[in-house]
Amino acid sequence: MAPADRRLHLFTGKGGVGKSTVVAATALAAAQAGRRPLIVELGHRATMGAIFDAPVGADPTPVAPGVHALNVDFHEALIDYVAEQTRVRALAKRIVASDALARFFAAAPAVSEVVTLRRLERLVDEEHRGRPRWDPVLVDLDATGHALMFLGLPDVFADLATRGPLAAFLRSLTALLSDRERTALDLVTLPDELPAHETRELHAAVVAQGHVPLGRLVINRMPPEPLSAATRARLPALAAAGMEAEVKLAERLEREHERALHIANELEEALGMPTVRLPELEPFGLATLAEALR
Ligand SMILES: Nc1ncnc2c1ncn2[C@@H]1O[C@H](COP(=O)(O)OP(=O)(O)OP(=O)(O)O)[C@@H](O)[C@H]1O
Ligand SMILES: [Mg+2]
Repeated sequence: MAPADRRLHLFTGKGGVGKSTVVAATALAAAQAGRRPLIVELGHRATMGAIFDAPVGADPTPVAPGVHALNVDFHEALIDYVAEQTRVRALAKRIVASDALARFFAAAPAVSEVVTLRRLERLVDEEHRGRPRWDPVLVDLDATGHALMFLGLPDVFADLATRGPLAAFLRSLTALLSDRERTALDLVTLPDELPAHETRELHAAVVAQGHVPLGRLVINRMPPEPLSAATRARLPALAAAGMEAEVKLAERLEREHERALHIANELEEALGMPTVRLPELEPFGLATLAEALR
């Protein structure tokens, strides 16, 4: 299935490249196309409230026309998970609240990721009048390092249990993460050397893990074309008229633009992923980015 049509999208990339912005703009674009997008942010990285200027809580709430968002908090997701096992929510709350267990849960490797993933699975599976309740589910994952750990969970699971209900449970999470029909990992980057380099490394690591199917590459903040052909032709005349500072600035912008283009072209070619380029916006406007993503 084409990446854009898949139900679950995980977004990652280097810190500050515009992951949350791209998630928000993708949700707007999906809503405009008549879909029912749900943005999922992870508890400790709450940003959607600020982006949409609307409160975001533990349950899906509307943040823009046709767009819902929710915050998956580890503690709540853990209670949900334990409640699922015990079938009694009040009991689950007490189990999770007990000191010793709280310490255990906080220290056990991958508990946070497992319960988060389970919550995502339930959101993806949720139906309303025989149709998927949310489509697509867009997850604003952490920056690269933590995302890799999240994406590598199938390897962790494979060692944890091979039989019994836990194994079956973990298998279904692995199945969701690695499903080419349902899931896509979208990479967000900038047309700069460092982020482009990190994106190549991330791409190589994800390919080597071999679990999560890749979606789109989003190259965010492409600088605008600095000069029209007519202006460029006039530069010598401007220099002759003593406007050297302006000419130097124009030439610098031109060089930066060419460098960005070069980095973007090389990255796009190296990764071979379907690619979208989003412009650097000044002033910034989410709706304009959403249009570029459609
Ligand atoms: N195309 C764009 N044009 C102009 N400004 C942009 C663009 N995309 C993002 N920004 C700005 O860049 C800043 C960082 O964006 P954002 O918070 O989405 O990055 P992030 O990758 O989610 O960061 P973090 O790693 O901290 O979560 C924000 O101020 C945002 O408004
Ligand atoms: Mg962010």
